[in-house]
Amino acid sequence: MGYKIAIAGATGNVGREMLDILDERGFPADEVVALASRRSQGTEVSFGDKTLKVQAMENYDFSDTDICLMSAGGTVSKEWSPRIAAKGCVVIDNSSAWRYDSDVPLIVPEVNADAIKGFSKKNIIANPNCSTAQLVVALKPLHDHAKIKRIVVSTYQSVSGGGKEAMEELFNQTRAVFVNDPIEPAKFTKRIAFNVIPHIDDFMEDGYTKEEWKVLAETKKMLDPAIKVTCTAVRVPVFIGHSESVNIEFENEISAEEARNILREAPGCLVIDKHEDGGYITPYESAGEDATYISRIREDATVENGLNIWIVSDNLRKGAALNTVQIAEALINRGLIKPKSEAA
Ligand SMILES: NC(=O)c1ccc[n+]([C@@H]2O[C@H](COP(=O)([O-])OP(=O)(O)OC[C@H]3O[C@@H](n4cnc5c(N)ncnc54)[C@H](OP(=O)(O)O)[C@@H]3O)[C@@H](O)[C@H]2O)c1
Repeated sequence: MGYKIAIAGATGNVGREMLDILDERGFPADEVVALASRRSQGTEVSFGDKTLKVQAMENYDFSDTDICLMSAGGTVSKEWSPRIAAKGCVVIDNSSAWRYDSDVPLIVPEVNADAIKGFSKKNIIANPNCSTAQLVVALKPLHDHAKIKRIVVSTYQSVSGGGKEAMEELFNQTRAVFVNDPIEPAKFTKRIAFNVIPHIDDFMEDGYTKEEWKVLAETKKMLDPAIKVTCTAVRVPVFIGHSESVNIEFENEISAEEARNILREAPGCLVIDKHEDGGYITPYESAGEDATYISRIREDATVENGLNIWIVSDNLRKGAALNTVQIAEALINRGLIKPKSEAA
């Protein structure tokens, strides 16, 4: 017997991707339910060769549902996740609402799958921020080998990280440039078409943005609290795929060649690193793919034991939907939950 799975936020960028990934991976679900706000009630979303009618989450009874994959934003998750969890349905949440709660495991299966067993304290598991997910997939094997002391991360994040309205804004502004229409920023604070914006999420007192702080806090929680992390997060006019330039300082010696060989064997990683024109990955090529790609692996001669690397991944997949589905698979494969229908 299979599981009953609800997708909360099924009409969104991440929710639609979750439906595709559940289907692609042959997830052991007997039933998949699509939920969104009341605005979308009755609309349809695709699930493999089927279409699902969207139901309003506020009217849905989670009592016989095993897992809720939640991607409806932080405010909705703060209110709804505890209520859903109280019905015995495990919530795997994509927002930042629960990531820093010490009773909620924050999981990237390639990095800290064992921590998943802590889910039973609140029946909630958190999925990291899109920039952190791909970062820790690439850093974990290098940390295991040579112990990372400090990282400097600069992100080049696509607009899909800001949801479907952000994608529409890039599209409409790009069109407006060509037809000479006026450009009015709405979702972004400045024009995004043919521009880059060094600002994602709210500003904090110290001048960093919340997005930059998330990379720091989540890397420490999942990988090692001793690692020093500093970050600059930048939005770029790319639809899908986040890129990161990462400078890493290690405790122990590691050459670029060793790093390349380690990453070639590491779960979830794919190395594309030829020292020639086009011998690297760009975000456009990562869209629709599962891997975390690593290119431009170089020794940094300005520090002892330093490397520079370029990391790219599809933010809607490894950065969100794929990682969420992998967490659900890990719960099942480790025997941590059984379908409620079995007990009935
Ligand atoms: N995009 C990324 O790269 C990424 C990566 C990691 C995490 N996340 C997180 O994932 C979440 C969703 O992101 P997204 O990019 O998919 O956003 P999105 O495209 O704007 O979609 C938001 C979804 O939430 C639903 N929703 C809004 N209010 C609701 C309510 N009151 N009750 C039920 N459903 C409601 C929307 O339904 P309607 O269509 O009915 O409004 C829609 O399905 C966010 O928390 C985001 O921070 C995103």
